[in-house]
Amino acid sequence: MKKTNPLAKPMEAISGFSKLSKEGKVEWICSHFENPEAAYQTLSTYWNEDAALQKLHDEFIENTITNYYLPFGVAPNFLIDGKMYTVPMAIEESSVVAAAAKAANFWLSRGGFKTHIISTTKIGHVHFAYWGDYEKLLNFFNSHIKELLYKESEELTKNMRNRGGGIKSIQLINKNYEEPNYYQIMATFETCDSMGANFINSCLEQFSRTFRREIENSDLFSEREKELQVIMCILSNYTPECLVRAEVSCPVEMLEDEKKEYTWQEFVDKFEKAVHIARIEPYRATTHNKGVMNGIDSVVIATGNDFRAVEACAHTYASRGGQYRSLTDVKVENGVFSFWLDIPLSLGTVGGITSLHPMVKFAINLLDNPNAERLMGITAVVGLAQNFSALRSLVTSGIQKGHMKMHLLNILNQLEATDEERKVIVKYFETDTVSHSKVVELFCEIRGIKSLEELKK
Ligand code: MEV
Repeated sequence: MKKTNPLAKPMEAISGFSKLSKEGKVEWICSHFENPEAAYQTLSTYWNEDAALQKLHDEFIENTITNYYLPFGVAPNFLIDGKMYTVPMAIEESSVVAAAAKAANFWLSRGGFKTHIISTTKIGHVHFAYWGDYEKLLNFFNSHIKELLYKESEELTKNMRNRGGGIKSIQLINKNYEEPNYYQIMATFETCDSMGANFINSCLEQFSRTFRREIENSDLFSEREKELQVIMCILSNYTPECLVRAEVSCPVEMLEDEKKEYTWQEFVDKFEKAVHIARIEPYRATTHNKGVMNGIDSVVIATGNDFRAVEACAHTYASRGGQYRSLTDVKVENGVFSFWLDIPLSLGTVGGITSLHPMVKFAINLLDNPNAERLMGITAVVGLAQNFSALRSLVTSGIQKGHMKMHLLNILNQLEATDEERKVIVKYFETDTVSHSKVVELFCEIRGIKSLEELKK
């Protein structure tokens, strides 16, 4: 409870830190703390006793000093395209898994979730500057270079082609109108069950080498034109053509509340309005989509995929019409309620850490070893489920009831409540709405203290 000044010694610059041994790094870090032993104890508590497993984790990134735990939970009862799934979710936010599981249960008796893969194309660019005649470059590119780009990347694309993927198209793009002298080689790829970042970037770098060499060796181009400058070769994390839809639907009457706290008419009316608000109001759309991403990210993390890429892409997609909008949409037609999510998800079930991280392997096995398309579907479903649960609470009981119930254990942990105190407090809140102040009040009452200040003495 008592706050101290944790860093006794201010941080100073250090050269060659990455070359220190792990013990050296830990020692250096801990030496800055007011209590180096306690700092060391915190770090070492999270080391794995299995040296091989620890080494594996140490080598995922540079300068590993310990492991960082996130809870790994599961949401059962997801009926997706007629098959049952228990979905792995890695996330720290108390109510997310509970909300997903609740929506899974709700839709289990209403036909479950349906998914549809709309497209699976990935994209990358060689961004370059060129000071010359564009028509000449375009003709040369189409008549001579394009073919060579395919040919000279054959070695790189061999395995992917054997798996049914590879380069789908290569095109020269004129961006001169937006930025003087700026052009691109834009290529699209099918990367099958891998996310494909390394594959795409390697192809693009090969394109750049071939492209530069051919321009340099051609008599068609002036010296100035040959000064073509490749600025960078990189995949785009914006993959609007790697798109999945997850959907639920049922007759409106099936949305009637079992507890009779609201009618289906009230529910549908407020639900539609809530989604509409998120489609027209960016302030709400951001929070609405945050809820979608609660579900998406936790599956993406559990399955060892790149959540930063998924996040960046989702928000660009949400802004594709020039305004940031809700990723989900709803309609009621002929007495049928439909609610769906369209989201670009560039995911892999092979490559990256999928075959290395034991928990990732476990998660993928738990999902019955899906291919990338299946994983796109499952992940989108959890995003939709999360959003459904959030909206359902928001337009009925309000969000805090369920949220605070789940947060109760975090508050009790902060208070360092004993098992006995927890039992009493949890029991109390079975029938009352949790609030931070009420928990503290009850805790103080049980401890026989007037306020938490007394604990600091
Ligand atoms: C909290 O993590 C997510 C929500 O705010 C989402 C929403 O408001 O739709 C509950």
